[in-house]
Amino acid sequence: MREMIDPERVLIRDSTDIVRARAVARQVANQIGFTLADQTRLATAVSELTRNIVQYAGEGVCEIADASGEEEIRLRIIVEDNGPGIDDIDRAMKDGYSTGGGLGVGLPGTRRLMDDFAIESSPGCTRVSIALVRRRV
Ligand SMILES: Nc1ncnc2c1ncn2[C@@H]1O[C@H](COP(=O)(O)OP(=O)(O)OP(=O)(O)O)[C@@H](O)[C@H]1O
Ligand SMILES: [Mg+2]
Repeated sequence: MREMIDPERVLIRDSTDIVRARAVARQVANQIGFTLADQTRLATAVSELTRNIVQYAGEGVCEIADASGEEEIRLRIIVEDNGPGIDDIDRAMKDGYSTGGGLGVGLPGTRRLMDDFAIESSPGCTRVSIALVRRRV
């Protein structure tokens, strides 16, 4: 088995933290062996999810972990906050739904970019878990 590397935790409070989380995701993805295109996919996903934290929750955490196995490389990211939560997740996952005057494509776009996407939300806790997986070459 490959040695597990400790996950990176980035505290998210403002736009500088978004930039930092984005850079960490890109760097870890690069170390694991993701292509430049996949590094950009992951950086974009982290950008969208952490921007939602700043916009709708105030603060939260982005955790980036190498979850690779023998056969595949896998980057898993969990973005979590203790903000007000999302009233209607089905609606929030549709293109064009925004309560903040945005385009409303952050969540659905992120789901399309990733291989795994899970979201749970209740008042006081929103958690989005994503992963990108590629077969080792
Ligand atoms: N962490 C969160 N906490 C509370 N509500 C959220 C959170 N993330 C998303 N939402 C809600 O889900 C909606 C959809 O989010 P999404 O990121 O898809 O679009 P947006 O942020 O409104 O616009 P865009 O990301 O395209 O600029 C948001 O408008 C907001 O109501
Ligand atoms: Mg958004």
